[in-house]
Amino acid sequence: MSAQRTVVITGASDGIGAVTARELAGGDVDLVVVGRSATKLEPVIADTGATGFTADFAKFDDVRALAGKIRDRVGHIDVLLNNAGGTFDPSRRTADDHEPNFQINHLAPFLLTHLLRDRLAAAEGGSLVLNTSSIGNLAGHVDLTDLDYRRRRALELRAYGTSKLMNILFTRGIAERWSDDGIRSAAVHPGPVASSFGRDSFFVGLLYRTPLRHLATITPEKGAEPLIALARRGADPEINGVYFSRHHANGRENRQAHDQNVIDGLWSASADLVGVG
Ligand SMILES: NC(=O)c1ccc[n+]([C@@H]2O[C@H](COP(=O)([O-])OP(=O)(O)OC[C@H]3O[C@@H](n4cnc5c(N)ncnc54)[C@H](OP(=O)(O)O)[C@@H]3O)[C@@H](O)[C@H]2O)c1
Repeated sequence: MSAQRTVVITGASDGIGAVTARELAGGDVDLVVVGRSATKLEPVIADTGATGFTADFAKFDDVRALAGKIRDRVGHIDVLLNNAGGTFDPSRRTADDHEPNFQINHLAPFLLTHLLRDRLAAAEGGSLVLNTSSIGNLAGHVDLTDLDYRRRRALELRAYGTSKLMNILFTRGIAERWSDDGIRSAAVHPGPVASSFGRDSFFVGLLYRTPLRHLATITPEKGAEPLIALARRGADPEINGVYFSRHHANGRENRQAHDQNVIDGLWSASADLVGVG
């Protein structure tokens, strides 16, 4: 491992990303935090001393500019925590005309990770790309002929679950393709966390923002625990390509999660859509 570990966390302005940033800051960690809103990110920067950047993942131009700023700032990355995300109304479209769960939760981190690949490869002793997925992956289905739900009607939880399944498929894609560069990848479900998650979703709101939450959810501090543990574990080959349900390896996965045609098909379709090699 490099003398000073560089850790980059997206979605660090709120919820489990903010807790993880505060916990990992200090010591030998050079921390870069990413949020969508400068105002929301400011207290995290103040508490951690991290370098902060903003980007809206609904805009690829923002993601490209973000990658440029991170590249200017760091020579290597030991841990990239792709954590930004949420549930979004699939009837809307992003600035780049994609279904928003597909773009914000999958295509944007796919693009960012590719643009940072050489920085990940430059980490002495290897690096880890950790993707925050979800048990919601079980509700997803990847249709390689209709990734953007142009033909099918998209229900929000289905579109969200599909994007979280994509986080696992991307994890496997990295594990299969980038190991020679010392880049490992794992995915993790943090648990049902009472964060700002699902703030615009009626169904998630029902569970997370009514008295039911006391029965059904855990705190952001608890939810962040597996992210913190895996980020500290770093580029361990044993976790390469593994999906964790909180601290447990090999969590329950969608049947498509090990389907090689889907892993490969999603990788090449995503690369075409975001314009990386
Ligand atoms: N909470 C749960 O129960 C749960 C369960 C399984 C998986 N997860 C996953 O855990 C991750 C973190 O969620 P959380 O629970 O901590 O939720 P949260 O409190 O809503 O935090 C989400 C983070 O992602 C950022 N983000 C959202 N949309 C973005 C966009 N368009 N561009 C850039 N950043 C954006 C948010 O920025 P702003 O602060 O500007 O909104 C925030 O920093 C997500 O990937 C989520 O899918 C959560």
